[in-house]
Amino acid sequence: MKTPLIDPFARAITYLRVSVTDRCDFRCVYCMSENMTFLPKRELLTLEELDRMCSTFIGLGVEKLRITGGEPLVRRGIMQFFEGMSRHLDAGTLKELTLTTNGSQLEKYASQLYAAGVRRVNVSLDTLDEAKFAQVTRWGRLPQVLRGIDAAQAAGLRVKLNAVALKGFNEPELPAITEWCAARDVDLTWIEVMPMGDIGNEDRLDQYWSLKDVRAQYAQHYTVTDLAERTGGPARYVRLEETGQRIGFITPLSHNFCESCNRVRLTCTGEIYLCLGQEDSADLRAPLRAHPDDDGPLEDAIRAAINLKPRGHDFDYSRQTPGGQMPRHMSHTGG
Ligand code: GTP
Ligand code: 5AD
Ligand code: SF4
Repeated sequence: MKTPLIDPFARAITYLRVSVTDRCDFRCVYCMSENMTFLPKRELLTLEELDRMCSTFIGLGVEKLRITGGEPLVRRGIMQFFEGMSRHLDAGTLKELTLTTNGSQLEKYASQLYAAGVRRVNVSLDTLDEAKFAQVTRWGRLPQVLRGIDAAQAAGLRVKLNAVALKGFNEPELPAITEWCAARDVDLTWIEVMPMGDIGNEDRLDQYWSLKDVRAQYAQHYTVTDLAERTGGPARYVRLEETGQRIGFITPLSHNFCESCNRVRLTCTGEIYLCLGQEDSADLRAPLRAHPDDDGPLEDAIRAAINLKPRGHDFDYSRQTPGGQMPRHMSHTGG
């Protein structure tokens, strides 16, 4: 057994989030500008390189792998990659293989994902209103995503909705979204909108809705019990006693969770980012490509990068960079 990855603040790194593409078939207004420029395909790690990269991390103690993007399911051949990763699940070295998706391609891929060992998917969905959905994603079609969720559940996948809490947008829908999730046995997590990447004219601060307020809204209608359980990510959970459902809160702004951070991010071009909200990064593609038959230099580069992991992010809408607002888009590092 190799020495596990421990960062300078004694946190064990066991969760790798991998962005397999910066592209997406939607353009959510808080995530991307309408005219995004995407990387040329030749810049991307090949599927074989992605496999080798992830396998090396797993050899160093990573137990949870979350595939993200952009939209991971628009990457050509991505099922081949999932199927390859399932060998680590079979070997017991990988405990969870999962993905965060916008759901647009789930109808097509749900069964194949299940067959590859995926048991849970997080679907980004901020509204159940068709017109509002088209507005927030710029051109997404809600029925397609809902069919994807149905297909995922039919295939045996546990589904969690990730909803970005947006004041004046999905605020009035909180009861409807919550009831919809309860009726379908879908988990729900709310996320505070983070100041990441230039999104054109939209103003995220205007839409920022603290999850402290969301929790208070729940408390007006339900008995809310804090839960100690975690899913290995940043969410903290409560149970609504009347429905028995579990609601997650991801609160980068109102309640920092960096102390228990266990994760790093790999971009589709093979850079490792040590924190979603900081610029510390290192290139892993060069050591990977320079030593096709020897993982040693790549392992050394990963260990050196882990030593750069900062204590945490310091998002702050009132401050421009560094730290307060990130120039990097969320889709670059995979959320
Ligand atoms: P579970 O395995 O279900 O716990 O998922 P997860 O919360 O780890 O992953 P998911 O992709 O659902 O994360 C939801 C969102 O939480 C991400 O897209 C980010 O917006 C945010 N998030 C995840 N990790 C971090 C983090 O380390 N820092 C910050 N600031 N936000 C994060
Ligand atoms: N703040 C918070 N969440 C964001 N996401 C994308 N951009 C932002 C942002 N600026 C979320 C998506 C999805 C996940 C991949 O990241 O809604 O749930
Ligand atoms: Fe695409 Fe997700 Fe960003 Fe929306 S939030 S544009 S679905 S990557």
